[in-house]
Amino acid sequence: MITAHLDSDDVARTPMIAPSLLSADFARLADEVARVADADWLHVDVMDAHFVPNLTLGRPVVEAIHAVSPVPLDCHLMIEAPERWAPGYAELGSRNVTVHAEACTGDPRDVARDIRAAGALAGLALKPGTPLERYEEVLRDFDTLLVMTVEPGFGGQAFMAEVLPKVRRARELVDTGHLQVLVEVDGGINADTIAQAAEAGADVFVAGSAVYGADDPSRAIAALRDLATPAAG
Ligand code: DX5
Ligand code: ZN
Repeated sequence: MITAHLDSDDVARTPMIAPSLLSADFARLADEVARVADADWLHVDVMDAHFVPNLTLGRPVVEAIHAVSPVPLDCHLMIEAPERWAPGYAELGSRNVTVHAEACTGDPRDVARDIRAAGALAGLALKPGTPLERYEEVLRDFDTLLVMTVEPGFGGQAFMAEVLPKVRRARELVDTGHLQVLVEVDGGINADTIAQAAEAGADVFVAGSAVYGADDPSRAIAALRDLATPAAG
């Protein structure tokens, strides 16, 4: 049985940029994937019109994206009953599969175990209003923590700076050895907000409109990476 875990590449503490395909042109997915080839991860938002009021794409499309993507996939499942569907997104070859804590009907650790057994890193996502304290113990069985900095469902929303204390607390738990997770932020990340999120301690930065809304996504990725790097930011 393959069980995925964070490796030294993942914990190098260099900022990772994960463009969100949600802001891409869905009629030209293969081209849009190719435009962000120098990203660290490709963030794929799976929405079911139940957990969030929006519907995007499902496993067959994610499988097709995986087949053409030069970049590892970071699947963000905004769906109900993630325990049922999450392992399938790991099996198709994703690097990381994240489920929402609020959507899990049972113990999220069971989902983490199944995702890892299927070969991917396991991620837990928290909506802006969901306290980290409730999941500190559970997170010991996860590899990534996705802190939502907007309400999940749509791209192009304004960054919620009031969530930053949660990022700081997560960083503290990692730095003191209580948790071993990559801290990921998602929502409203752009050239004006990324430095705050980096300063609070995030490792992975999801950016949809800031990358796909740019004339040159490649340059936008490089600029975001610079702004998230303490020495340059
Ligand atoms: C929102 C999604 C995000 C979204 C981010 O529910 O989880 O990944 O695509 O888009 P921006 O960067 O435009 O806020
Ligand atoms: Zn997302």
